[in-house]
Amino acid sequence: MKPPYPMLVDTLPEAAPRERRVYFEVFGCQMNKLDSELMLESLVARGYQLTHDSDEASVILYNTCSIREHAEERAISRLQTFRKRKESEPDLVLGLLGCVAQHKEAELFKRMPYLDMVVGTREFDQLPELIDAVRAGDEPRLATEMDSPLVFSRRRNLGPQPWHAYVSVMRGCDMVCTYCIVPTTRGKEVSRPPEVILDEIRRLAGDGVRELTLLGQTVNSYGKRLGPGIGLDTLLRGIEEINGIERVRFITSHPRFMRPKLIDAMAECSKVTDFLHLPVQSGSNAVLARMKRTYDRDFYLKVIERLRDKMPNLHLLTDFIVGFPGETEAEFEESMSLVDAADFDYGYVFMYSPRPGTVSHRLADDIAEEEKKRRLHTILHALEENGRRRNLDSIGRRVEVLVEGVSKFDASRMAGRARDFRMVVFPASPLDRPGSFVEVEVESTTAGTLLGRRIGPPGSDPVMPPTVRRAPGSGVPSEPQPPRRPAGI
Ligand code: SAH
Ligand code: SF4
Ligand code: F3S
Repeated sequence: MKPPYPMLVDTLPEAAPRERRVYFEVFGCQMNKLDSELMLESLVARGYQLTHDSDEASVILYNTCSIREHAEERAISRLQTFRKRKESEPDLVLGLLGCVAQHKEAELFKRMPYLDMVVGTREFDQLPELIDAVRAGDEPRLATEMDSPLVFSRRRNLGPQPWHAYVSVMRGCDMVCTYCIVPTTRGKEVSRPPEVILDEIRRLAGDGVRELTLLGQTVNSYGKRLGPGIGLDTLLRGIEEINGIERVRFITSHPRFMRPKLIDAMAECSKVTDFLHLPVQSGSNAVLARMKRTYDRDFYLKVIERLRDKMPNLHLLTDFIVGFPGETEAEFEESMSLVDAADFDYGYVFMYSPRPGTVSHRLADDIAEEEKKRRLHTILHALEENGRRRNLDSIGRRVEVLVEGVSKFDASRMAGRARDFRMVVFPASPLDRPGSFVEVEVESTTAGTLLGRRIGPPGSDPVMPPTVRRAPGSGVPSEPQPPRRPAGI
């Protein structure tokens, strides 16, 4: 069975003994994916081997997400399917990790008495020792200390694509959005020192990584408490100097921290791609205030005006929450009108889900499920139509594509990502290698994909010079994101 996030296993030693085989399922955002890679790395260093078949494994780990009730319940119910096996195989180690662990803590043992460990988001570096302790016949283990100085040293990239790596630049979130559980599950904001991050990136580049996604809950507030003058722009300018890295993007940004000096660095650094995920959540000032988002509609629109002024080819994605407590029809219409005003390329839309422990949990969840669904579909449709329209501008343009592999839908074609992260499909050649660059001229578009023909001979791996990337009109100015959600969210 294929897990939702297939980490890289090919390079790991074969045939570890059964008690050293570990099975992982990963829910939630990219941060959870990276945390899982880091956990796997520390386990592999102690002789463990990843298996994609849970029947083969003697350690079963679930890295979970709390963002909405549905995400939480899905992970728990998957883990519950191992109850019978645990009864007949007491040596099996069952672990629940990540945000649900941090959110629910010891309560999870009451619900699932057969669980062996509950490990939160700041203590996962202890994982190998916790497994040993469980095996030594100790009590079930709870490791949810928040002040724990999480220490991890990363030697390799275990992500599913050897040419792409996630890099954590900060953890936690200092914001207090009233609906959000993340500050509880991930704790206070802590930025990693720039030299540590840049060293890690140099190592990754030496191993063949060409594309980076920098991760943080409010990634653009990076640098807080590190001293004056250090920000995400410092990192972007540092990465610009690292040979081998060709593309950098970062997720997720908060509108409040989209400062001019960061926008300048984005525009000036040739490796920073034309991609920005800038969740707005609502187009209504009243709702934004109830959410405590700390900006209003006008502020958001001014930020994107400045961005598009400096980066005319920017591909802009957002998030909306529909059905927040008390959201009137008129307030929802203000979100609808923002789709037009901001001219988004794509967006993710979520139905409000009350999370115990958050401020808005105390408010009545008074928008009926059916109405939430209606609002979700209405705004998603508007976002897709907007993206489809902007997408048409791409026809006839040339784009640099980082090849991912054979198209899922047509084996005679290859698929890859443009610099703005949109999927591009083109006729396959036996010389195409995943992780190489190809130049494609766009001939047609679907809702979220560009289709085109290759320019230049196959296998030539042309990385476009920065001037070509940045020249207005030479890239794809406004490509919509494929209409799919990030895994698990
Ligand atoms: N740190 C990121 C968001 C992380 S959560 C940021 O601030 O932009 C990802 C998305 O989940 C959020 O942007 C929001 O749209 C959605 N979300 C968070 N809490 C939610 C809740 N209680 N109900 C519904 N959607 C929620
Ligand atoms: Fe949650 Fe708000 Fe922090 Fe994003 S900025 S993680 S939505 S509290
Ligand atoms: Fe990510 Fe979900 Fe936790 S979105 S930070 S895994 S609550």
